[in-house]
Amino acid sequence: MTASLQGRNIVVTGGTGALGSAVVSRLLGEGATCHVPVHGSKAPAEEPGVRYVPGIDLTDAKAVDQFFSGIDDLWASVHLAGGFAFGKTVDAEPEILMKLLQMNAVTAWLCCRAAALAMTATGKGGRIVNVAARPAIEQRTGSGMAAYAASKAAVAATTAALGEELKGANILVNAIAPSILDTPANRDGMPKADFSKWVSLESAADLIAFLVSPQNAATSSAIIPLYARA
Ligand SMILES: NC(=O)c1ccc[n+]([C@@H]2O[C@H](COP(=O)([O-])OP(=O)(O)OC[C@H]3O[C@@H](n4cnc5c(N)ncnc54)[C@H](OP(=O)(O)O)[C@@H]3O)[C@@H](O)[C@H]2O)c1
Repeated sequence: MTASLQGRNIVVTGGTGALGSAVVSRLLGEGATCHVPVHGSKAPAEEPGVRYVPGIDLTDAKAVDQFFSGIDDLWASVHLAGGFAFGKTVDAEPEILMKLLQMNAVTAWLCCRAAALAMTATGKGGRIVNVAARPAIEQRTGSGMAAYAASKAAVAATTAALGEELKGANILVNAIAPSILDTPANRDGMPKADFSKWVSLESAADLIAFLVSPQNAATSSAIIPLYARA
């Protein structure tokens, strides 16, 4: 679709997860070099075009800054690290809110900041993509998962505000807001659901590949619904 990613350096956080693996494959297919921070201490097997950096907790500002400082000429940064938890507010412990804010909002904010600094330094512009979720923009759909909805609403707000801050530098910042992705974990967790209504990992990866490409010349501060037939 966009051979213009040839040779460009792109960070993919959560790049070993379900969506992240699909995004890394997609970007490699466009000729990009992917830089993937790995939460655990072991990196996956080496793969041409991918640089895995193990032992990075993206809730740690110093670790995030150090990871980004090791990348020359950063073009794009895709922030997919995060997590989910169900739970009605009255049944939830405060710790779950803190955990989801850390996993989703803090990781995205720290990576946005580090990516913006690196891209501003190149003076060549850049692209940032975050992952929010449907309840971040259709907030009543967050019923039964209010802590998660709050954490992803923070990602959406960060995206829209940062896009405004960076538009003069040709750094475009967007987020996708999926409903339910068709992942192995979701199939295991909801075996009776109609999987055909879910968003395929390939279609999410296609959209992200466009958003990080130079062909995306005008879209910024957008939180893009990705609902398939749900
Ligand atoms: N799946 C869905 O239906 C759905 C719907 C809407 C939005 N989303 C969002 O889309 C993103 C990807 O979802 P997914 O289903 O692909 O999830 P996933 O398979 O669980 O992948 C998430 C990745 O984030 C990493 N991560 C989490 N916390 C981290 C931290 N503190 N530091 C470094 N890495 C960390 C995880 O590593 P470890 O496992 O090693 O911690 C994992 O590699 C998430 O942000 C999720 O909230 C998903």
